Amino acid sequence: MAKQPPFRFPHLDGGFFVFVQREENEMAMKRRDFMKGAAAVGAASVVGTPHLWFKNAGLAYAGQGEIKVGVLFSLTGTTGIIEESLNKATILAIEEINDAGGINGMRIVPVVEDPASDPATFAAKARKLVLGDKCVSVFGSYTSASRKAVLPVFEKRNNLYWYPTLYEGRECSKNVIYTGAVPNQQQDEFIPWLVKNFGKKFYLIGSNYIYPKEENNYCKKLLEKLGAEVVNEEYVPLGHSEFSSVINKIKSTQPNVIFSTVVGDSVVALHRQYRAAGLDPEKMPMASLTTSENEVAAMGGDAAAGHFTSAPYFMVHKSPENERFVEAYKARWGADKVTHFVSEPSYFQVYLFKQAVEKLAPSDITPPNIREAVKGEEMTAPQGRVRIERENLHTWLWPKIAVAKSDGQFEVLQDSKEWVQPVPYAAYPDQVCRESGLEKV
Ligand code: ACM
Repeated sequence: MAKQPPFRFPHLDGGFFVFVQREENEMAMKRRDFMKGAAAVGAASVVGTPHLWFKNAGLAYAGQGEIKVGVLFSLTGTTGIIEESLNKATILAIEEINDAGGINGMRIVPVVEDPASDPATFAAKARKLVLGDKCVSVFGSYTSASRKAVLPVFEKRNNLYWYPTLYEGRECSKNVIYTGAVPNQQQDEFIPWLVKNFGKKFYLIGSNYIYPKEENNYCKKLLEKLGAEVVNEEYVPLGHSEFSSVINKIKSTQPNVIFSTVVGDSVVALHRQYRAAGLDPEKMPMASLTTSENEVAAMGGDAAAGHFTSAPYFMVHKSPENERFVEAYKARWGADKVTHFVSEPSYFQVYLFKQAVEKLAPSDITPPNIREAVKGEEMTAPQGRVRIERENLHTWLWPKIAVAKSDGQFEVLQDSKEWVQPVPYAAYPDQVCRESGLEKV
């Protein structure tokens, strides 16, 4: 009989094995970890004489007790300010899962790339992760510009992109799991609340790309219904840091609310220059969909105090799951670090990935099978119970309205009573994203 193979790979539905020759000591350790997991999977599957059996190409995705995933967040460039924390939240979840025994005994191996806040680099790195590294899924992106840049890679290869960021909706891809908020989840409560509390004149300021434009498109529809008006709508380049002409126009138009969809380090510049110009948040607050604890930490609490954000998660949220998340994040990355409404989905979506993969036999771990397995999947995230909507692969979330305070945290002023359904085509009521694809209604 051939030498006893050093590594066994159970096939859950058949009771067979794939044996892979591994030599490194490090891998021997992983092997022991893996065998613990295999025991948990079920002793009944660990029987018989060794076989070499490749059921299908899916084995390329999960072999040698490992599952490779891509982690594609910018560590440098204009959105590095926020994406670096998305990388950290993703890595934290992966480490926690691995420390607890992996997924059915298999370790998640992250392949980390830095796309440097550049959409073309995002696309190149996505190709590398999908084609070169054979990752079964990639967790990535903050801006919609970078998501749009990688989308063709995932659609062409039928791979899976897990996108944790709030975004503009109007997308119905079978190759993206969307765990951040869409406009109806951030604006439906927020805009009427702003009108009621501050008045009907809105100044729209955003970064110049698809996300702010589509988000403002939805905002204008809500404002119109409320009989409110837009006194100016303006876009600045990504990375913009000189807001004096914007602030002069704000002074001359005297809006009640400055509705901001500026992103990245521009958020810091806008807030600081607003404060330096002597504007007063009590009279003319900024209302943002993109200002989180992370940007507040970068600008300083005084620059943010008194401005409003709507999002499904704030670090101060009280729940046992959030306490654990915040504590683990600080323990791993530093006591001064903050969690926020994009790092939280970055974290929980890895757990949803785990729940989906757990349902699959190793040889069935492929991107399309993971997509099917995650449909309708639920978990209690730090923000509350979340669910992947099977029709459109977006997520049911818990929107909140909060005011920034000078200590760098937010105070939640209004919390949704129920989780809110994602409606990615809310601004386009003649279209609906269904499991079968985009439909005209
Ligand atoms: C964004 O670009 N989705 C913030």
